Amino acid sequence: MYTHDVIIVGSGLAGLRAAQELSGHLDVAVLTKVYPSRSHSGAAQGGVAAALANVDKDDSPEAHTYDTVKGSDYLGDQDAIEIMCSDAPAAIHEIEKLGCPFSRTPENKIDQRAFGGHSFKRSCFAADRTGHALLHTLFEQLMKNSGKIQVYSEWYMLRLIMEDGVARGVVAMDIKTGRLEVFHAKTVLFGTGGYGRAYKITSNAYANTGDGITAAYRAGVPLMDMEFVQFHPTGLYSHGILLSEAARGEGGYLLNGLGERFMAKYAPTKLELGPRDIVSRAAQTEIDEGRGAGPNKDYVLLDLRHLGEEKILERLPQIYHIAKDFLGSDALNTPVPIQPTAHYSMGGIPADNDCQVYIDEKGNHVRGFFAAGECSCISVHGANRLGTNSLLEALVFGRRAGKKMLEVTRDTDWSPINEKRELDTVRRELDQLLHTQAKEDLNTIRDEMKETMTYKAGVYRDAENLGLALKKIKELQDRFTRVRVDDKKKNFNTNLLEARELSHMLEYSELIVAGAIARTESRGAHARKDYPNRDDANWLKHTMAFKTKDGFELRYKPVKMTRFKPEERKY
Ligand code: FUM
Repeated sequence: MYTHDVIIVGSGLAGLRAAQELSGHLDVAVLTKVYPSRSHSGAAQGGVAAALANVDKDDSPEAHTYDTVKGSDYLGDQDAIEIMCSDAPAAIHEIEKLGCPFSRTPENKIDQRAFGGHSFKRSCFAADRTGHALLHTLFEQLMKNSGKIQVYSEWYMLRLIMEDGVARGVVAMDIKTGRLEVFHAKTVLFGTGGYGRAYKITSNAYANTGDGITAAYRAGVPLMDMEFVQFHPTGLYSHGILLSEAARGEGGYLLNGLGERFMAKYAPTKLELGPRDIVSRAAQTEIDEGRGAGPNKDYVLLDLRHLGEEKILERLPQIYHIAKDFLGSDALNTPVPIQPTAHYSMGGIPADNDCQVYIDEKGNHVRGFFAAGECSCISVHGANRLGTNSLLEALVFGRRAGKKMLEVTRDTDWSPINEKRELDTVRRELDQLLHTQAKEDLNTIRDEMKETMTYKAGVYRDAENLGLALKKIKELQDRFTRVRVDDKKKNFNTNLLEARELSHMLEYSELIVAGAIARTESRGAHARKDYPNRDDANWLKHTMAFKTKDGFELRYKPVKMTRFKPEERKY
């Protein structure tokens, strides 16, 4: 058994920012299924939002707060949003001082670009590799603090240990050897990322299989607002890889197969810089109504040609290379094929403004358990996140989590855990996967799940397709009980881990679909063709999904409103 005061699971921006806050004060361990610098935060491209007013002088944290509340389609908790937007400038200056190489204005200030749904140029950026730059800045701090923070790299967390409603550690596997270990801690933070890999077309890394949210759910924690999955309008056609919204922030156009700038119909004022839910629906509508491009009319186009070579290569170098390498598409000379891609998980582990996890819809907490970043639902994004608010959330709430954990951990005594029981539970679960005489093919089940989620619970939804999706997911869950794991070895058994990840995706996909069936309205990223309007009278509330003996139960919790009354969203 390993013992540390604090275990942080996940080494993305939220986890590393919390670790930095705790470093030197407590015995801290970071446990991660990938090498830290490969965490998915590094894939974020276009920017991190903060009202610095370096470019647009009238910007302010108040304006950022309002844009975020409106962008969330009024499902975001307004107290949390206000904290995030007010803390944003300090969070950016802090990481700049740590050495983050932000792009600069001619006056040598941090440069800021336009992004969808923001009413000012407020996205601070490092070309189109902002997540990479931020992640590596915090990774450098991790290296610097290596004597103070223990890193367990390529360890896979399999279980959250909860006793008497208190989090006491995790069980994890050393991927290299297959060895299982209990990590005993006074407090645990999950910064385990999102759940987009359940979709076929997704910008998410292979690692984003919702391991943290599922471990929390299986330990008795409800999951909040799972039906809200964000689709990013400009995923690279057929691959889903992100082509940053920064492309539109810099002036790129969206064209349909007829060469029309179709956003004029959907967001007449903001055009391509409408919020993501609206732009994704617009792109999908053009495709669905036969105005797509290409031989099958199943994509639309991102046109950057008029920006010119110098601007594209200086400000958007990564997306230029992605389009070229994966699709052979040269953005300097030709519009790039794109389609909406599952990009961000608005739902997740419910937590308060200090990242302390809730155990129910009444506001009671799980003592010792924290969640920050994309796996958490605090909820600063509500039904639709604005671009560049996710890196911000990770920085602001990673820091807040660290501060609160310092206080709570110092205030907590060690309580015993039953190491043998925890290990036996996980061993039994893995043995069941390894030793069945089963016949079902893992890849087939996973492919069918991904197709189902993309085509039946995607950008547009309705009762009929969601009903079919639920039936299919249940069928796949049943087939999964007979899934075959061919590799029986202990070391680097990725076959076994993929099976485990699939069990997570099948479990939470049911919650995405069930939440979407229940929510008979359209709000943010949840667009029901059969209920096209927002219904504040009945649905201005958060969904909470609880695990029960026979399946799950949905309950609801009010949205925290402070200054802004719901209005019609116009862009
Ligand atoms: O389009 C982008 O660069 C994505 C940014 C984000 O999701 O915040």
